[in-house]
Amino acid sequence: MEGYRRLLETNERWVAERLGERPDFFTRLTGTQDPDFVWIGCADSRVPAETVTGCAPGELFVHRNVANQVVHTDLNMLTVVFYAVEQLRVRHVIVCGHYGCGGVKAAMSGQDFGLINRWLQNIKDCAERHQEELGRLPREEDRLRRLVELNVLEQVDHLAKMSVIQRAWKMEGRPWLHGWVYDMDTGRLSELVLRTATDLPHPVHRFDIPE
Ligand code: CO
Repeated sequence: MEGYRRLLETNERWVAERLGERPDFFTRLTGTQDPDFVWIGCADSRVPAETVTGCAPGELFVHRNVANQVVHTDLNMLTVVFYAVEQLRVRHVIVCGHYGCGGVKAAMSGQDFGLINRWLQNIKDCAERHQEELGRLPREEDRLRRLVELNVLEQVDHLAKMSVIQRAWKMEGRPWLHGWVYDMDTGRLSELVLRTATDLPHPVHRFDIPE
């Protein structure tokens, strides 16, 4: 039970180390933040955004949920993306999935998870849209790995369908949208897709944005 104290004690040491490096380590960030990156990742404890990217406080604006979803009715995600793009004017939005994702695995399991089914349905829909490609993979392990990738690509496409992204693309040519996947077995990140201002979504999802 008392294991939680380690976190508070570690924090004390971490503060002392950072202040040893530079006395203004914390105070330089208190007035403002100017991150270049938004990270939309899985809530999984094994994919800590700052740790795997070597980012320091002030560098990553983070949103995490189960299976790194970009769901158009998710007010939490929308607020993060709107604030980051319009106010912080970030240059990059990264959607990062990971192999071995429990959310993706649960979505493909057929098990009834109650309330959680609603969230997992987004992944089931993704699997259904790509059933032909997934069906060609004989091993379940490979199907799950590919679905992790397809899920990332789809979430990046969801970002491209947002007016806030298309407006920033037209006005300032940012942000670049990145789809990455993290391999928990090796610790490595891989790039799946990079979408920039010319990579608009299907015409039905394009907005008329005044000059
Ligand atoms: Co996951």
